[in-house]
Amino acid sequence: MEKNKLYITDTILRDAHQSQAATRMRLEDMLPACEMLDNIGYWSLECWGGATFDTCMRFLNEDPWVRLRTLREAMPKTRLQMLLRGQNILGYKHYADDVVEEFVRKSIENGIDVIRIFDALNDVRNMETAMKSVKKMQLTHPSAICEAAISYTTSPVHNEEYFVTLAKKLEKMGADTIAVKDMANLLLPMEAYSLIKKLKQEISVPIHLHTHNTTGTGDMVNLMACQAGVDIVDCALSPLANGTSQPATESLVATLKGTDRDTGLDLGKLSDVAEHFRKVAQKLTKEGFLDPKVLSVDTNTLRYQVPGGMLSNLIKQLKEAKHEDLFYEVLAEIPRVRKDFGYPPLVTPTSQIVGTQAVLNVMSGERYKMVSNESKGLLAGQYGQLPGEINEEVRKKAIGDGEIITCRPADLIKPEMEKYRKESAEFAKSEEDVLSYAIFPQVAEKFIRERDKPKVTNEPRVLYVDDCSIN
Ligand code: CO
Repeated sequence: MEKNKLYITDTILRDAHQSQAATRMRLEDMLPACEMLDNIGYWSLECWGGATFDTCMRFLNEDPWVRLRTLREAMPKTRLQMLLRGQNILGYKHYADDVVEEFVRKSIENGIDVIRIFDALNDVRNMETAMKSVKKMQLTHPSAICEAAISYTTSPVHNEEYFVTLAKKLEKMGADTIAVKDMANLLLPMEAYSLIKKLKQEISVPIHLHTHNTTGTGDMVNLMACQAGVDIVDCALSPLANGTSQPATESLVATLKGTDRDTGLDLGKLSDVAEHFRKVAQKLTKEGFLDPKVLSVDTNTLRYQVPGGMLSNLIKQLKEAKHEDLFYEVLAEIPRVRKDFGYPPLVTPTSQIVGTQAVLNVMSGERYKMVSNESKGLLAGQYGQLPGEINEEVRKKAIGDGEIITCRPADLIKPEMEKYRKESAEFAKSEEDVLSYAIFPQVAEKFIRERDKPKVTNEPRVLYVDDCSIN
């Protein structure tokens, strides 16, 4: 890496449309821009993983592996990046180590360079197998990069020292780069400066910052992090930037032009490719996937420390239960539940677990009279170790004398690949199909069967001149 230069990852092909348009950008919307994107000079292009895998098969009738291979071919020069939820891969439960390893192997073989690995609880044991798998692949794919991410949150246990200690652990585990993943835009500009400064002192691998602009502080966070010496920053091209998405690429590039942190990116080239994505954004708006509401600054998150997505979920849940009047009571209950549960960062799936439990606590009139199965699992250690101390009284009430797991959850799972291979033998055509099935069984089976159906039409075959040509 060049000294001083700030490197940019563009999220236009993944987080930007996942955050603003329900992950509905199609491969056909990406391809016309690929050559331009490949010539910008980004550090990487985030284009796969996260929610794209599920959405491809469930809604877009696209094979996620074909999408990856096609993007790889269309952008031979730029690093392609994906987001992976550690032992959860791209799903919502813990998988056996052999499935994680195979998924990482196939992702890299099909064209991924950078794998950003994170765990909702920051339990590094849930990141270990994925990280080791990337390191192993570097023997045959030296361009592969193992990026370990810290899930940023605020709580009495989550201070700067906590994050620095965590980053040191991840560096020791072999991380090639360390990302600070601020999914809810809770990181404030001054704190970003201080945290990045500290990380740059204590860590020798590059630091990569990921924030959003939900609360309106994203550009300031990026700029302060830049001043503190951050190496790489995530941005999104302007047509799908800001609000719940990342701050705009062009704005940061222009801000740093001519300074010692100049990104070296060409505003003219960025504007050319932005023109294409403006049309894509218009199309997504017309289709109803992009609601301009996601662009407005949401300051409630700053007040309540509850991620924006969680607030809108909560309103929906209460509306369905015809109890919108309880909104502020539930809002006040969320931090209490989070404290009882040992301060998990609020990100999928913990945001849903804590939110739902807060609703149950308020609606039933007695705290923990009703406890969801997911809450029980979280308190029993099934998701990994919680960052802070758990309220033992609450745990007792929730799971009684039930078993508490203190080992790495995946240690209790036997190898699963063979089972998935057998189960999908009848329709899976490749190891990639088996992996799609392993992660989303029903969705993948339906998708693959449809994909491979012979396309028969009842229309009479038209005979063209060429069909009968005899020359
Ligand atoms: Co994000």
